[in-house]
Amino acid sequence: MPLIGENLGYYYQKERWIFKDIHLSVAPGEVLGLSGYSGCGKTTLSRILAGYIKPRNGRVTVGGGELKRNAFRPVQLIYQHPEKAINPKWRMEDVLTESYTPSQDILDAFEIRDEWLKRWPLELSGGQLQRFCIVRALNPAAKYIIADEMTTMLDAITQAKIWNAFLRICRSRNIGVIVVSHEAALLNRICDNLYKVGRD
Ligand SMILES: Nc1ncnc2c1ncn2[C@@H]1O[C@H](COP(=O)(O)OP(=O)(O)OP(=O)(O)O)[C@@H](O)[C@H]1O
Ligand SMILES: [Mg+2]
Repeated sequence: MPLIGENLGYYYQKERWIFKDIHLSVAPGEVLGLSGYSGCGKTTLSRILAGYIKPRNGRVTVGGGELKRNAFRPVQLIYQHPEKAINPKWRMEDVLTESYTPSQDILDAFEIRDEWLKRWPLELSGGQLQRFCIVRALNPAAKYIIADEMTTMLDAITQAKIWNAFLRICRSRNIGVIVVSHEAALLNRICDNLYKVGRD
């Protein structure tokens, strides 16, 4: 059941198209890279593919069915800014177990420490918070995960560790991944295919 975006187009201000005629598809287990200049619409496209905003043109399907609103999202989105994706009024243990209870193996894979679970989001660094967002996206029902500049805030060593753990788990569950990044070296290393949004 592939994730397919057909003929996608979007504008925020009437008729000022950010992109048009985007066709892309991702198969289970495939890693697709999305690149393009800053402001070309990668984050907008990610939000469309995950079902958070409706495209002005075209449609998104998973296994032939359109994404439903207010249902569990088979396409999970990990944002560049984890602090914007986490409720600041919840302790981390509640953030972590909101939609499912992750195994200790997963927590260990992302080096999430027990002592962090009692803290509030403001008491963790951006990189520590992002690990929670990644684990949250790895819900057992997730079929696809879009990682929008997921590790931009991390140092090179931590970045490599997190990608290794993330891709290993996605591969083992046959999850299709869309990697949004402006780092050509990262995309070339981990992606099976690449799609460029917008002009050069
Ligand atoms: N809520 C919004 N209302 C109006 N315009 C918006 C909104 N969000 C984004 N835009 C504009 O839409 C265009 C695409 O933005 P988007 O964030 O999708 O780009 P991007 O490719 O992800 O950029 P970056 O590489 O900097 O993250 C930009 O010109 C941006 O200013
Ligand atoms: Mg963006």
